[in-house]
Amino acid sequence: MIEVISQLGALRAHINGWKQEGLRVGFVPTMGNLHAGHFSLVELARRHADKVVASVFVNPTQFGPNEDFGRYPRTPDADTNGLQAAGCDALWLPSVDAMYPFGADHAVRMHVPGITDTLDGASRPGHFDGVATVVARLFNQVQADVAVFGRKDYQQLAVIRYLVRDLAYSIEILAADTLRDADGLAMSSRNQYLSEQERAIAPSIHRVLQVMRDACEAGVPRSAIEASAGRTLRTAGLVPDYTVLRRPDFTEPVDGETGALVALIAARLGTTRLIDNLEFDTGI
Ligand code: PAF
Repeated sequence: MIEVISQLGALRAHINGWKQEGLRVGFVPTMGNLHAGHFSLVELARRHADKVVASVFVNPTQFGPNEDFGRYPRTPDADTNGLQAAGCDALWLPSVDAMYPFGADHAVRMHVPGITDTLDGASRPGHFDGVATVVARLFNQVQADVAVFGRKDYQQLAVIRYLVRDLAYSIEILAADTLRDADGLAMSSRNQYLSEQERAIAPSIHRVLQVMRDACEAGVPRSAIEASAGRTLRTAGLVPDYTVLRRPDFTEPVDGETGALVALIAARLGTTRLIDNLEFDTGI
């Protein structure tokens, strides 16, 4: 049976017990409302650890004032059952008080510089500070040997890697591939906000990413690719926030550049903001 733990003392006792047995602990941080994409993160953690802890915490500090914190879906029973079926050993389910003992507004804050100035960092001011703030706490609480994050949140993954390296956390970070529905839409808890009509439009994001990659490999200039991607999304009924090609460090590639690149899109569909990306290598 999965252990559901809400007190930090109980979590520490549990994890210390495993560590004393010489077991390697894997960690999957989530905000809950889990789907197959999250369970694939648990499976990857299982392959790299003896015991797996998942956390479910809808983190108030990473939502802007006009974002969906209040309506973010909270499904603890389904999450617990799903995690158990996925082979997770413990669920860390802290309250806001357990996570932020002085209150979220009086919390010590993290800020990762540079890579958070652009894309989602620019569109969602403070978002990555909130992510780094809670992940730093989660790492302190869980004391895992390895943690798994999804590649769908490409910039978040870069922020976590920076945090771990800069603060010398003794934890290995693994990146899990994005799971997609059959029509290409990246799995996300926010997909359930989509109406039937919006759900039919949403896979165009993945198709446009593929077109961006193909055009880049064919040598089309970057500015033309990015502009055309934006137009295609707008024609499909989305409101793009960004449609860009970047190097893995988020700097802008020159036209015809070879090497690792990533196409990234954020777009709104009705009231729902979706993000996705496609990594590729023009040198191969
Ligand atoms: O990716 C998420 O679900 C969240 O941003 C995370 C990493 C669990 C921090 O709240």
